[in-house]
Amino acid sequence: QSTTELDLSKIAPGQAIKASFRKQPLFVRNLTPQEIAAANAVSLSELRDPQSLAERTKEGKRNWLITLGVCTHLGCVPLGAGEGENRGPFGGYFCPCHGSAYDTAARIRQGPAPKNLTVPEYVFTSDTTVTVG
Ligand code: FES
Repeated sequence: QSTTELDLSKIAPGQAIKASFRKQPLFVRNLTPQEIAAANAVSLSELRDPQSLAERTKEGKRNWLITLGVCTHLGCVPLGAGEGENRGPFGGYFCPCHGSAYDTAARIRQGPAPKNLTVPEYVFTSDTTVTVG
């Protein structure tokens, strides 16, 4: 079981990067205050896979959204983090294979994917470094 170290210091608010974790794409996103507010404004009853932003991020670090970059439909890599700027109608990520749209908490909002993008196990080892896995 290997871990991945991430340096967050160069990721600006609003930016998302693609890294890799155990040979899978990993999305690391620095949410803006507006994106956080948008995620928190959604009621859980509207969601196919109900989870709050708080459940998908760490206390005091709500702006750091770390997920696998693997669509939960059939495994394509969604757009919006290093694979084109199309973030889709919910402002998060958009899977071009069959049109699954994820919101700013990377929750599934439209299209065939059944689940939110997966949040892997990770810990902050400093203010700007994370160990995934
Ligand atoms: Fe993403 Fe089908 S693999 S929508």
